[in-house]
Amino acid sequence: MAHELAQAWSRVAQDYEEHFIDPYAQEVANPLWRVLERIPDKEHKTVGDLGCGTGPLLPFLAQRFRQVLAVDFAEGMLQRARERCRHLPQVQFYCLALQDLHPLHGQLDVAVAINSLGLPDPADIDEALRQIRSCLRPGGWFLGIVPAMDAIHYMTMVLVDRALARGLPLDIAQKNAAHHVGHQEYDFAFSRFHYRGTEQHFWFSFEVPYRLRRAGFIRIRWAKVMIPWSQVARLKDLEKYPPTWDWFFVARRGR
Ligand SMILES: C[S@@+](CC[C@H](N)C(=O)[O-])C[C@H]1O[C@@H](n2cnc3c(N)ncnc32)[C@H](O)[C@@H]1O
Repeated sequence: MAHELAQAWSRVAQDYEEHFIDPYAQEVANPLWRVLERIPDKEHKTVGDLGCGTGPLLPFLAQRFRQVLAVDFAEGMLQRARERCRHLPQVQFYCLALQDLHPLHGQLDVAVAINSLGLPDPADIDEALRQIRSCLRPGGWFLGIVPAMDAIHYMTMVLVDRALARGLPLDIAQKNAAHHVGHQEYDFAFSRFHYRGTEQHFWFSFEVPYRLRRAGFIRIRWAKVMIPWSQVARLKDLEKYPPTWDWFFVARRGR
């Protein structure tokens, strides 16, 4: 299963940017930058980008940290990340699944996982979180972004309201919302998203402290990453509604 998923992610690597949201774009209100900047002594620390994908965050990390470990289980993603970082010798690459990070245990001061904790099986998410904790040295930081399920419900609500305001009957308004949000790609009961062979778990906000606490993390805080409508829907008149979001979190490994 993990092997098939890794292959599916490898297949989407080539044109990744055309299909997935970009949490690093300037117009995204992302707490990641502020929290990363506040970590002291970064120039002496090692950071892991866990599920690094094509590596958009790696140059930023390489400028600030002594060493960067870039981890992904999809060789297609790692190829693009290696190419992006060919002039950055402080970045080292590991083809590993987040559920088994034994080679990196005790090696990280900071772990970052951006939209890579969408493993479809909740038992794998829990194992990945325990593994990430084991990679951190005592007192280490864990920063992440996870795709938000409640944002999909929010988008659905907004699109139904928008259609009703235009005078459409409820059944058509609902059909219209389901089409634009892409409901056929979601399993709403079990919070899953199927897309181009990949399968991701989408998170509710209550899941963030619940899962991080279970994995042994402390000092857990979370906040929205505000994503502009232009990244998620090709409809022009949504700007009057507050934007949609993913969930950002920061937590610590105790001493
Ligand atoms: C949505 S992409 C995000 C990539 C990157 N962090 C970014 O922000 O652009 C998810 C990445 O996580 C990787 N990934 C998903 N599940 C993984 C797992 N179980 N172990 C390692 N990598 C995984 C995928 O291969 C993919 O590169």
